[in-house]
Parts: sequence; C-alpha cells; structure tokens
Amino acid sequence: MPLNPTEKIWHNGKLIPWNDAKIHVMSHVVNYGSSVFEGVRCYELPSGPAIFRAQEHTQRLLDSAKIYRIPVPYTRQQLVDAMVDTISANGVWPCYIRPLIVRGYGELGVNPTGVPTECYVANYAWGKYLGGAEDVGVDVCVSSWTRLAPNTLPSMAKAGANYMNSQLIKVEAVLNGYVEGIALDTSGYVSEGSGENIFLVRDGKLLTPPLGNSVLAGITRDSVLTVAKELGIPVEEHMIPREMLYIADEVFFTGTAAEVTSIRSVDKITVGDGGVGPVTKAIRAELFGIFDGSRPDKYNWLTPVPVRQKIGA
Ligand SMILES: Cc1ncc(COP(=O)(O)O)c(C=O)c1O
Repeated sequence: MPLNPTEKIWHNGKLIPWNDAKIHVMSHVVNYGSSVFEGVRCYELPSGPAIFRAQEHTQRLLDSAKIYRIPVPYTRQQLVDAMVDTISANGVWPCYIRPLIVRGYGELGVNPTGVPTECYVANYAWGKYLGGAEDVGVDVCVSSWTRLAPNTLPSMAKAGANYMNSQLIKVEAVLNGYVEGIALDTSGYVSEGSGENIFLVRDGKLLTPPLGNSVLAGITRDSVLTVAKELGIPVEEHMIPREMLYIADEVFFTGTAAEVTSIRSVDKITVGDGGVGPVTKAIRAELFGIFDGSRPDKYNWLTPVPVRQKIGA
C-alpha cells in the first residue's frame, strides 16, 4: 500500500515539512539499523479523533530506547503531546502514527557514543493491514524462519533491526501465497507473526504465548487479555506447540496494524469450521466498540486529539 504523505512531521520538538524529514546516508541508523519505533492508531469517534493507548505505546518506545541505551531527551508526556500535535496540525484522521527514534549522524563506528538522537513523529492515513473481512479469516503458514533467539536481538524492544527477521517471515509467506507467516521460537514453540501477536482458542480457553517465547509485548495483546478477563473468558499464557495451531477451535492475530484478524487456515489446515469463531467475535466487538465510540472507554485507553479542521484521510 503506498504511503500517504501528510503536511508535517514532528522532529525534535518542531513541526517540519514532510519532505524535509531527511537523514544523511552515513547516519548510524542507516548503517547499523539503530532505531526504535512505535505503530499507533488514531480512530475517528463521534466525539472526534482519539489515539488508542498513547501512554502505553510511548512507554514501550522509551523502554525500547532504554534497552539499547539510546538517550531520549523527551518525557513520555512530551512524546504523547507530539503525537497529538502532529495529528492536529495535519488534520488527517483516522490514521496510523509512527513515532521513531534513531541514532543520527556523527560517528560511524559501531560504538554509538556521541551520535545524536533524532526523534520523529509522523502520521498518515492507513486502512486495514492483513485484509481479513469481518466474517472471513486469512490464510497463513508456519514460517521456515525462526523468531529472534533470546539474548541476541531483544524481542521486547521494538527495534528497526528486528524487522529484518520480520521481512524474511513476511516475504516468504507472501511468495508462497499466504497473507502472513507465524514464526516459532528457537525451541520450536509458537511465537508470533511478523508483525502481530497470536491467540488460540481451545475448549473455551484463550491461549497466547508468554513474553519468554520471543514475542513483542503487544499493546493489542494486552488489550485482548484485559477484555477477555472482563468477558469471563478463561485466559492462559503458556508455551504452545506448533500442532496446537492445527487443532485449535479459533486462531487470531492481534496488533495495531492487524487489530483483531481471524485466521481461517494454517498451512492449508482449516481452523475449526473455517468461520470466525464466537470468542474472536466477542473480543472484536468489545475492542472495535471502543475504537468507534459505540462502547464506553471504560479502561481510559483513548487520548482525545483537539482539532481545528479535518483535511482528509
Ligand atoms: C513483531 C510484532 N509483534 C506484535 C505486534 C503487535 O503489537 P501491538 O499490538 O502493540 O501493535 C507487532 C506490532 O507492533 C509486531 O511488530
């Protein structure tokens, strides 16, 4: 899907023109992948635009930077305000928001000491990611690529470099005619998709791999766990063998981009009866109700964006 540019990008505290948000080819990030980032959504509610779980996404961004010892001269609230200001200035929503922190131009050794940190926030219009319709799931495969090994590239950091592994998973899946790949961890247990967490339903219980199986601590994953508990659905976080994917009653992906996407088949084996299952539907109804304002924001997950005029999305 082509990128839809907006007018401004927030850079180190100032809104600059989209086309001026450039970095030098000899920047540390270009050579070594030294970036951390977020993917956040802003929804359109009857009350106006609102960012979903802005504080939690920004905390994860700061945590990712901390793991890599990237100094960030902004507080969590300043970065949340930067998201709000960018959407407000651009007048584009609903939208995807991309906060991005990179090691910039200075030294070119691997040691980043003295290399400046550059902070950006962009927003742009973006629709569905995996393309699953409300009543039809997507067809996926188990990847031949393994997710990041523990103590190599840290899975809990949302770092640009991790997405080289994600690219291998995604490209292989698409070339083989699937929408997405599910990667196993180094021990062969189910980990996650290239850009999504995964959930299974078996005998009425909701299962998802724990953080120790090389998964990103997804904000949507956390939202689903919260909503499921509220709905009285039993939830278990434990290691999941690959074959459980084939005999589950329901399987779905979660993520900011994928939201809650039902999975119809894994490796051409139909999941359950091939339809969107009742647990997936119940969770989706709760979350999508918060996204469109038809259900109350009882967890305080939305940050309203004050806007003057919508330019178009
Ligand atoms: C590898 C990976 N896992 C899981 C997720 C889902 O995380 P979230 O729900 O915070 O978007 C993402 C998306 O950010 C991801 O890239």
